[in-house]
Amino acid sequence: MRNALNKLADSSKVQDADRGRFESELDSFFTLFRRYLVEKSSRTTLEWDKINSPNPEQVVKYEIIAQQPETVSNLAKLAVLKLNGGLGTSMGCVGPKSVIEVREGNTFLDLSVRQIEYLNRQYDSDVPLLLMNSFNTDKDTEHLIKKYSANRIRIRSFNQSRFPRVYKDSLLPVPTEYDSPLDAWYPPGHGDLFESLHASGELDALIAQGREVLFVSNGDNLGATVDLKILNHMIETGAEYIMELTDKTRADVKGGTLISYDGQVRLLEVAQVPKEHIDEFKNIRKFTNFNTNNLWINLKAVKKLIESSNLEMEIIPNQKTITRDGHEINVLQLETACGAAIRHFEGAHGVVVPRSRFLPVKTCSDLLLVKSDLFRLEHGSLKLDPSRFGPNPLIKLGSHFKKVSGFNARIPHIPKIVELDHLTITGNVFLGKGVTLRGTVIIVCSDGHKIDIPNGSILENVVVTGNLQI
Ligand code: UTP
Repeated sequence: MRNALNKLADSSKVQDADRGRFESELDSFFTLFRRYLVEKSSRTTLEWDKINSPNPEQVVKYEIIAQQPETVSNLAKLAVLKLNGGLGTSMGCVGPKSVIEVREGNTFLDLSVRQIEYLNRQYDSDVPLLLMNSFNTDKDTEHLIKKYSANRIRIRSFNQSRFPRVYKDSLLPVPTEYDSPLDAWYPPGHGDLFESLHASGELDALIAQGREVLFVSNGDNLGATVDLKILNHMIETGAEYIMELTDKTRADVKGGTLISYDGQVRLLEVAQVPKEHIDEFKNIRKFTNFNTNNLWINLKAVKKLIESSNLEMEIIPNQKTITRDGHEINVLQLETACGAAIRHFEGAHGVVVPRSRFLPVKTCSDLLLVKSDLFRLEHGSLKLDPSRFGPNPLIKLGSHFKKVSGFNARIPHIPKIVELDHLTITGNVFLGKGVTLRGTVIIVCSDGHKIDIPNGSILENVVVTGNLQI
């Protein structure tokens, strides 16, 4: 492997300006790869018996910290970062996920920008917005943020690392040149944030500006707004890292959870759980909350840990296939997640926040929710309609709605769902304009047929099936 990487590093295709970063990325990849081989052979797994529920200092309730007064001047110490390396492929879109239109003509990125602009206007602050792009997303993102150059917001972006995929069988790198095809490379997960923030020079720049805390969140979590109470709590307690958790429901049993291990707070992901304990892991009474990936991180602590090479995160091996000369080839990519870094930070702990701070859009079912009358858009943030009680409706749209294009064609006008509890739609279904859905609504269209729900329909606790034109 080392020889193959050395050869790659000598690639004549790399420009002088890019050589330094390219070489250090290959070195970092090699370190990760070596760790993967060692850990694979030594089978280091967590000892289940040593896992305990976190104690009250390790997981604090938001309601408690919200009693403290807010200190607006703390905003001078804050920077916000959106993880923006991912593509919109799972929602059938080409390009970065953050450029998908989610609400009233705004993309994920537009909403993030509007939120920060409003924050800065409201408190007369100057909180910068950083975007961590990947080689997959940087061009489109740069293009989109140009329109904000005259606005009252500082947007900085930098690229995360680009690592070589390896063949699953030989474990040799897929790329042979710096400019080998895009599918020979991968962005190594959001755990790469720390290293890339440092390597890009943005970490030092933020520290030099007096920024102490970085609020990190997934670009697709519309609930991840700046919260002055958490910022205040972070600064008051001197914690170097805070992870926002939220209570598990039956729908999110797979999310990573915080545990106490040897007295230390750690993130436990489903992939680390031995098979015989999976049911226990999914038990929402034993592991009551999960990681939202809204993280508050002390920048000086990141610098210290990166510069002393003390920021190891669990490796997540991810198998993919690429096509070469008409053949499908199995490749492997080694990733890390930034939540796993929690155990390296002093005073790190979790805060259990209201569910409203976790509003991810992973599928078109989520898209229907966030586009609907269940929420109002206020300065880039989605606010739940006050007349709504209980949890958000459970929405399950079938494969015809998997891609955003299919969703838009079939649901060109978003139905009213404030009083909806559960919606399932499968098959060739089209909704008309001004439709209202209440209670439990199930629409199932059998193969080869079509169901049109006419304009103005009110469907309440009904099952619509077959080839029906109601
Ligand atoms: P994921 O693709 O990891 O989604 O992207 P997930 O698995 O549902 O979420 P987690 O990991 O459990 O929280 C989460 C965010 O991380 C960014 C994506 O753009 C998205 O905003 N991301 C992911 C990166 O910036 N770089 C990566 O290499 C991977």
